[in-house]
Amino acid sequence: MRFTVAIDGPAAAGKGTISKAVARHFGFAHLDTGLLYRAVGAKVLAGAEPLSAALALVPEDLSDENLRTAAVAQAASKVAVLADVRTALTAFQQDFARRAGGAVLDGRDIGTVICPDADVKLFVTASAARRAERRYAELTARGDQTSFETVLADVEARDERDRSRATAPLLAAEDAALIDTSDMSIDEAVAAAIAKIASVKS
Ligand code: C5P
Repeated sequence: MRFTVAIDGPAAAGKGTISKAVARHFGFAHLDTGLLYRAVGAKVLAGAEPLSAALALVPEDLSDENLRTAAVAQAASKVAVLADVRTALTAFQQDFARRAGGAVLDGRDIGTVICPDADVKLFVTASAARRAERRYAELTARGDQTSFETVLADVEARDERDRSRATAPLLAAEDAALIDTSDMSIDEAVAAAIAKIASVKS
């Protein structure tokens, strides 16, 4: 059985949490595609050239603990502007989407570019302030020294770069269902996503 769920949206809207929960619920495999760009960004911070880093990526690179830092997030959104880097990462994502047993991919361009024929497309969003609050809580819980204002500026800078780039900008697919998590609990957001997928799957 092949069944692809595409989940897109801006930074810290809840895509990751929803994607993991949906994958667990339906028994699908999950790929956080942001990790691909973060892994390339981390290699660039360490001195690599972006395209070479993208072409040399191996699955083990995605489990590096340091990929979650704010510095790597910014580096990721800078390499994500480069069309040749995006192309280098496309086949891996499309192969993952076609795997038997079903797949959930979350990112920025899954429903628009990587899997335009996905069975279900969700666009998960929330206000910038709510997203920054959640990311701030996440970073401080991990011991990162930062301020809410820094995190908000960081989220807004990444949003702007992701939305305005020429190649595969952050954009809801025309046929995506919108889930605004600004005033939703995690459980409510997950339930909304599961209900949408279940309505298509059955
Ligand atoms: O989702 P996450 O915050 O981990 O993504 C990091 C960065 O990677 C994003 O800001 C975006 O620039 C880029 N990205 C992308 N396309 C995707 C996933 C992530 O351009 N499908």
